[in-house]
Amino acid sequence: MTVIDNYSNNIIKFGVKDMELKKNIEDVSVIGKRVLVRCDFNVPMDADKNITDDIRIRGALPTIKYLVKNEAKVILMSHLGRPKGAPDAKYTLEPVAKRLSELLEQEIIFAADQEVVGTSARKAVNEMKNGEIVLLENVRFRKEEEKNKPEFAKELADLGDLFVNDAFGTAHRAHASTAGIADYLPCVSGYLIQKEIDIMGKALHNPDRPFVAILGGAKVSDKIGVIKNLMNKVDILIVGGGMAFTFLKAMGYEVGKSLLEEEKLILAKELMTEAAEKGIKLLLPVDVVVAGEFKADAEHFIVDAAEIPQDMMALDIGPKTIELFSEEIKNAQTVIWNGPMGVFEMPAFAVGTEAIAKSVSESKGITIIGGGDSAAAVEQLGYADKMTHISTGGGASLEFLEGIELPGIAVIENK
Ligand code: 3PG
Repeated sequence: MTVIDNYSNNIIKFGVKDMELKKNIEDVSVIGKRVLVRCDFNVPMDADKNITDDIRIRGALPTIKYLVKNEAKVILMSHLGRPKGAPDAKYTLEPVAKRLSELLEQEIIFAADQEVVGTSARKAVNEMKNGEIVLLENVRFRKEEEKNKPEFAKELADLGDLFVNDAFGTAHRAHASTAGIADYLPCVSGYLIQKEIDIMGKALHNPDRPFVAILGGAKVSDKIGVIKNLMNKVDILIVGGGMAFTFLKAMGYEVGKSLLEEEKLILAKELMTEAAEKGIKLLLPVDVVVAGEFKADAEHFIVDAAEIPQDMMALDIGPKTIELFSEEIKNAQTVIWNGPMGVFEMPAFAVGTEAIAKSVSESKGITIIGGGDSAAAVEQLGYADKMTHISTGGGASLEFLEGIELPGIAVIENK
């Protein structure tokens, strides 16, 4: 299987069914045009506004570089955090402008306009020359953004000639700068959205097999849509993390004080029956790490999953489970992973997540990491380079894996 590294290839070359062919930046002329690019620069920062993970900024570079090289006037827009529809210095995009300028080795003109599209932003855009880059202030400084108000979408659109959506991480939001704006401008995708759709779309519609999905995280309820959609596609479904205990309980095991969603027990049973009927191997932990309390330094033991003591909670998968899961991952041709295997923020209970990250990184197949916690774990552990794709979307990649059409992708024109 070839890793897709030339995103100008369209998705049909990979035999993807049901995915419409979307126009991308190479399908339109950009020379001399004012091109508005929606990015997702919603990056984590420390108290001193130092960016602690710039993967989303780096993810936007191919599109920006292409536009600069092709002499467009590049106007970037993004949100950062949740500033509640009004200017808030805590959420200014200024640190992003600095980081971008370092990465691109090019000056970024930051339009520090509290109205986002006010007099100074308009002036900055009017004075642009081909190949220059302006970054607008946080679009969520305007209350109309999240309400997808046409007035604000139009204000943004009036700055440009073309809209490029490259904000995969925000593609599940129908906001003025991700969706509404496309009512006023032609809309194509950037390379990042194209890459996310190509790789995750291929896995969903035409995977190399065996296809293994690994789901973790605290709650079954967060992943129901994903499990249901993947149930029609995967060969092996691995369930770890807190959500596994609802399944184990549904099988009749005692789970002590472990995470449990009582109201999802029937659903868990139904999902296990469905998996069996469809011939899908559904794997659950066979041993776990238990502790008496939810504390980083709590004394902990390994027990069989069928023998969790009543006064203990399971906080990680055990060594036999790691072996069982890793064996399937090793033989897989496609792996999708979303959600940690245990409480990985606490080193004593991070062993399972780390081991699974290592197994996925050693897989010879296509490996896709859904955004959020599993992406952060893979980054922190230094396995990022060994994965085929780490999605820049948390909520967006989950909704994509659920099979939901994302508003930010729906607005991109078809070829
Ligand atoms: C994310 O971090 O998932 C995206 O940037 C979307 O942010 P939001 O959940 O605040 O809309």
